[in-house]
This record gives sequence, C-alpha cells and structure tokens, in this order.
Amino acid sequence: MNLPSINPTTTEAWNKLQTHFSEINEVHMMDLFKEDKKRVDKMNLSWKEFQVDFSKNRITDKTISLLLELAEELGLKEAIELQFEGSKINQTEDRAVLHTALRDFHSMKPEVKKSLQKMKKTSNAVIKGTWKGFTGKPITDIVNIGIGGSELGPKMVTNALKYYSNDLKIHYISNVDGDHVSETLKKLNRETTLFIIVSKSFTTQETMTNANAIKNWFLQESTQLDIEKHFIAVSSNESAVIDFGISEQNVFPMWDWVGGRFSLWSAVGLSTCCAIGYKNFEELLRGAHEMDLHFRNEDFSENIPVVLALLSVWYNNFFLSETEAIIPYTQYLEDFVPFLQQAIMESNGKSVDRNGNTINYQTGTIVWGNVGANAQHAFFQLLHQGTKLVPVDFIGFSESLYHNKKQHEILKANFFSQSEALLQGTYKQSISNAYRAFSGNKPSNTILINNLTPKNLGSLIAIYEHKIFVQGIIWNIFSFDQWGVELGKKLTNKLLGSL
Ligand code: F6P
Repeated sequence: MNLPSINPTTTEAWNKLQTHFSEINEVHMMDLFKEDKKRVDKMNLSWKEFQVDFSKNRITDKTISLLLELAEELGLKEAIELQFEGSKINQTEDRAVLHTALRDFHSMKPEVKKSLQKMKKTSNAVIKGTWKGFTGKPITDIVNIGIGGSELGPKMVTNALKYYSNDLKIHYISNVDGDHVSETLKKLNRETTLFIIVSKSFTTQETMTNANAIKNWFLQESTQLDIEKHFIAVSSNESAVIDFGISEQNVFPMWDWVGGRFSLWSAVGLSTCCAIGYKNFEELLRGAHEMDLHFRNEDFSENIPVVLALLSVWYNNFFLSETEAIIPYTQYLEDFVPFLQQAIMESNGKSVDRNGNTINYQTGTIVWGNVGANAQHAFFQLLHQGTKLVPVDFIGFSESLYHNKKQHEILKANFFSQSEALLQGTYKQSISNAYRAFSGNKPSNTILINNLTPKNLGSLIAIYEHKIFVQGIIWNIFSFDQWGVELGKKLTNKLLGSL
C-alpha cells in the first residue's frame, strides 16, 4: 500500500494555521508564560530518562491542536503503520523502510539475528585478542573505510560512547583525500590493523579508491592470503566484495530495506560494536527500539518525535525560518550534528511531491550547530541578536559520566541559561543602548536526559529518525531516496575522464 499523498497546503488545518500564525506572530512568549501559569507543566513530555520541555516555543494550546489536526488530516497514523509493517513506502526505489526491524528483538528477522550473532562473535574475537593478524599478533587498530551513512553514524556513536570503550583504536577514513589516507596509515602497523570496508553498493568512488589504495599498502608487506585476516566488508553487493578479494566468511550483509543514513544499527556499526563491545551495542539497539514503540503507540500529543517534527514544520512553513540549530551540551556528541545533517537533509531535501508535482512550499530544514558551551563563544551572537529566527534544540544530560559534579554544574548552568536568554531577551527592560538590547522571543526545545548511556543514545537518535519521517509525511515527499546526489557523481566521472 502507498503512503497518503495530500498536498498539505490544501488541508483545512493548514489554512487555519495560516490564520493562527498572523494572530501569534507578534506575541512575545514572555506574555504567554504570564498568561498561563501551567504552561511549563503542559508543554513538557516526560518519557523514561528523557524530559522534553517545549514550552519555550511561539505556540499556544491552539497551535498544538491545529498542528495535531494537520497530522491527522495528512494520514500520519496510517503512514507510521505502513512503515513499521514493511510496505514499500520508498516508492521511487520500490523498497521498504525498515531500519526499525534492525532493533526489534521481539520479532527479529532471522537474517538480522544472524548478522548480529556474527557481529557478536567477530567483535568478541577482536576484543579478546583471539582474532590474530598475519604474524599472529592481536588487533590493536580498526579502520572503517566508508562515506556518508557508511561512516557518519558509526563514527558519531563510537565517539559518543567513548566512555564505554575498550583499548582498541578506531579510525575512520571517508574522504577521497589521499593525504588523509596517508596521515592515517602512517600511524598504523599492518600486522595489527583490521580494515572494515563499509559500502552498501560497493561501487562508491571515494570508498573504493581508498579501499584499493589501502589494500595495495597492505600488500606491500604481506601476501594475498593474508587479506582474510585483515579485511572485512559490509555490503549488499557480495559479488563485488568477492571480486575485491575478501573471503565470503568476512562479508557482513546490508539490505535494500535499510537506507545508508539509517544503517548504523546494522553491521555498518561493526566498528562501534568492536569499540564498545556487543553488550553495549545491543543496549544501543534496545534504546532505539523503546523509542520506536513510543513513536508507534503513543498519542500524537504526547509523542516526542511527532511533537518535535510538528514544531519544526510550524517554524519552517509559517515563520519561514531558514535553518534550525542543534546544540548538544556534551563533548561526546561533537559528531552528532554532521550525522544529523546527512540524515535530515539527504532525506527531506526534496522539491517534488508524492504525486510527482513540483512543490510550492518549503520542505527540508537546514540543520547546523556544534557542542555547547563552545558554540556560545562562536555563533550564539547571531542566535541572540541576528535578524534570522533560528529555532534551537538544546540537548543536555543531568549527570556527567565521571561524576565531575562541580564542572557539570557549570555546564548545566550554561545549558539552561541560554534557552532562557533566547526566550526572555531584555523583555520590558529599559535599555538605553540599543546595541545591548535583546528582543528575546527566540524559540527552543530543551531535551534533558539523565545520562549518556548506550540505551539513551539509541533513543535519542531514534527520536530524530522518526522526526524526519513525520516531516516527510507532512511535506508529502519521499524521504528515503537520494536521487539528488547522482548528477554530481556522474559529472565527477566525466570530468575525471577528461582530466
Ligand atoms: O551519495 C550518497 C550516498 O548514497 C549515501 O546515501 C550513502 O550513505 C553514501 O552515499 C555511501 O553509499 P555506500 O554505502 O553505497 O558506499
């Protein structure tokens, strides 16, 4: 069955939202807080170890109910079911969209179970040192060779969960920049390095160029027979992997029903699994699955991904905000924004709707950001006093992992005060110097999580995955293809020929 395909601007809810926008556009949030003492309690979602405060948005109860009406009118509920049931909702590629099946331990597909078992066995052997290199030494370094979804997700999670890591050193090579490859290789010992080539297609130019260069480097001091001790591949193109010279037992599967940018939960995450151990990797999956259940079953008014997605539509399509910022208050999440940039912008950067018509409203949000507090000293000036309205997601943790209480209090004080400053500005204060005045009324969400565990990270990533899905449904686009990257690839090859 196909997804519903209604132009959102033709719905009743959209028209009502348009009228409502003109009522609310000039209203200051500080007045809304004054008028409704229960605002903070009402606009707060509490779920397991997550608190999502969305009270600092330019909304009233009416806004929320109209946005929920919009979701109803556009068939969001049935769309969610179609996704989870495995309908081929990626219609332009005739594929199902089932990254959620990678973490559903209750009704797991046999091939997923088998792949997880293989990941467990391999990661255990590498961690325990029973996987030996060609001279009999245990592995000390792992190099993930892949780009886009074959790097951004695993790299982000590996770094985010460093606290849970063992001593293996994990490296990521993605760019077809020979200098970066050389810089990485110069630190490595062939005898103790394991290379994981991750490419769903096994044809991606950057990945295959790097993989071949690295294979040649490896073979300078070893033989073809040694490859099986040092090269693993994760791909859905098994024959190309075998042609490359990797033995069958070292191939991990990828499936056409998992998009690259949603694949960190599969064997694409093998580097992460080696870094943090299988048990922690499974916790990551379980955390994501819990969020899947919440997303699938919870009422939309209490549903974290749905509410966050609708708020984002509110700013994107009615306030015509150009971008959104994401600011995690932990150094561990320094790769979170680049990961989300691919997930969000490759999914929803579309301008043709599900009926094949050119779209005349805004779709995909542009997301950017960096970790707080660093970002405060870099681009927050523009958030506070610039001319653009940039809704912000603040992500923070109640506790630090090393229980460094004193410093964590300072980090948290920064985390809470920035959203407060964006909200209040210098509201109703008489500031004689215009340069020192802040208009305030700048929207933000505050996502506060108990602590950074593998499980909570899994849930957090799944929130954003589902937010992407909801927005794609609202905008009537196909979120799971990426035809827009093809032309550039073709022209690169053409140019390469003429160079
Ligand atoms: O060019 C974009 C893209 O297709 C992404 O969607 C994907 O994550 C990346 O390239 C890598 O693709 P592959 O895993 O097939 O090498």
